[in-house]
Amino acid sequence: MIKAFVVGHPIRHSRSPLIHGHWIGELGLAGSYERIDVPPAEFKDFLTSLSARGFAGGNVTIPHKEAAFATVARRTARAERIGAVNTVWLEDGVLWGDNTDAAGFVDNLVQSVGTNWAASVDTALVIGAGGAARAVVAGLQDCAMRRILVVNRTTGKADALVQDLAREGGPALVSATWEALPALVPQAGLIVNTTSLGMTRQPPLDLDLSSAKHDAIVADLIYAPLKTALLRDAEKHGLRIVGGLGMLLHQAVPGFARWFGVTPQVTPALEAVILRDLSGN
Ligand code: ATR
Repeated sequence: MIKAFVVGHPIRHSRSPLIHGHWIGELGLAGSYERIDVPPAEFKDFLTSLSARGFAGGNVTIPHKEAAFATVARRTARAERIGAVNTVWLEDGVLWGDNTDAAGFVDNLVQSVGTNWAASVDTALVIGAGGAARAVVAGLQDCAMRRILVVNRTTGKADALVQDLAREGGPALVSATWEALPALVPQAGLIVNTTSLGMTRQPPLDLDLSSAKHDAIVADLIYAPLKTALLRDAEKHGLRIVGGLGMLLHQAVPGFARWFGVTPQVTPALEAVILRDLSGN
């Protein structure tokens, strides 16, 4: 019996058990995936005792992603760059940490738009500079484009992101002010909202897409609602849209593969399980 978990505080709203539980059932594995609530003061002890607790590994969520980064013995290059760990596993007794949000974002783009999604993208415009924006930028840095622009209400955070993630080779990484946002829209082949604007009970992200390139892709990391006002507006302008639910599903794939030794698929059946949950049924 292989055991995995998601740890957070609070943890009851996590949808990860639904995703991994679906795959365990679908693949007929002798495995389990449980929710564990661990307060910050006890997190390090929890993470360093996985072997004793019989776990192969698990997911780490709010507020522990930075603490997990600091606690693991080894990190993937992606996790190193992003500065946060959301997936851990034991390999020959060594605790490893990865950040699968970057790959989750890109894999969802591929599944939604097609493998050549980047062909029409010279410049990506990333709105927001929090943890999610860091993962998106880290993912895009491995894609073929010329430039990634990062815009945030608090410009200093966009500057810090650029400073932390900048590297030789790959796309140029540039920060810009919130006021510059309207003027940047026509330059972008990919526009990504990583802010909380547009979430249920939050104001929408007010962005005029009438000047967007006709072949632009608009992605939103938000999945509640499934289609934000930004995505509805993008659709009205005939743009290609990518919702946030797919990223949630795709980021779960690498962890499952590590713990259970089988790479699962993101299918309409899995999506239906999460949609049912989101709609409260
Ligand atoms: P996450 O881990 O999901 O990225 P986060 O680190 O709290 O969450 O980041 C939230 C992002 O949403 C930030 O970029 C934040 O902008 P600030 O850095 O200026 O706070 C952005 N955000 C939240 N509310 C916003 C608002 N009302 N207007 C503009 N940006 C907002």
